[in-house]
Amino acid sequence: MMKWNGIAAAVAFALILPAQADDAAERAAASQAAIQNFASTLQGELVAAMQKGGPVEAIDVCKQRAPEIAAGISEDTGWSVGRTSLKLRNPENAPDEWERAVLQNFDDRLAAGTPAAELTHQEVVTEGDDTVFRFMRAIPTGGVCLTCHGSELGGDIQHALERLYPNDQATGYAEGQIRGAFTVIQRM
Ligand code: HEC
Repeated sequence: MMKWNGIAAAVAFALILPAQADDAAERAAASQAAIQNFASTLQGELVAAMQKGGPVEAIDVCKQRAPEIAAGISEDTGWSVGRTSLKLRNPENAPDEWERAVLQNFDDRLAAGTPAAELTHQEVVTEGDDTVFRFMRAIPTGGVCLTCHGSELGGDIQHALERLYPNDQATGYAEGQIRGAFTVIQRM
């Protein structure tokens, strides 16, 4: 009897595990697609605004459109999709405890040699009565980002940022560092 139970358990295990793995892979891929949509929409609008009105005008695009685009994708997917960071510009993007730990882990993995563009983390997390699938992808600091997140900001940019974000911590970055991360929560 023990033997059959063992075999039954082994069979059940073999059947369930790949199904769960498939489910996680699908959820991760869908999270990546939502993030890609967010990243490319925002990047497109940011670049267009920089070309049209210069960086000071583009600050308004980031302020207005980044939260709007995130809210739109969250509504379309039914998930929570956003951006976060350990050094914030907009305090509304503050990480929760889980996100903070993942961001710290990304910094550690970057220091150990993994390029920022390759850093992701996914996990099924129990939060109170809810079980959620959470996914994060690091956001590398590129050259164009330094205009508003670097060490030497133009005077007009600095003034605009001080006015809009009196507690801005999101400057002093160098190319290749992790500026923050996209974060997705899917209810299961
Ligand atoms: C024209 C100025 C400007 C440029 C260029 C810019 N940003 Fe930002 N960034 C902002 C502003 C303004 C916010 C605050 C947006 C908000 O209020 O949600 C912000 C917020 C962020 C956030 C959200 C976390 C936080 O600190 O609130 C991330 C992540 C981020 N930027 C990454 C980048 C990356 C990566 C690049 C380059 C591809 C970039 N930014 C280029 C102005 C800029």
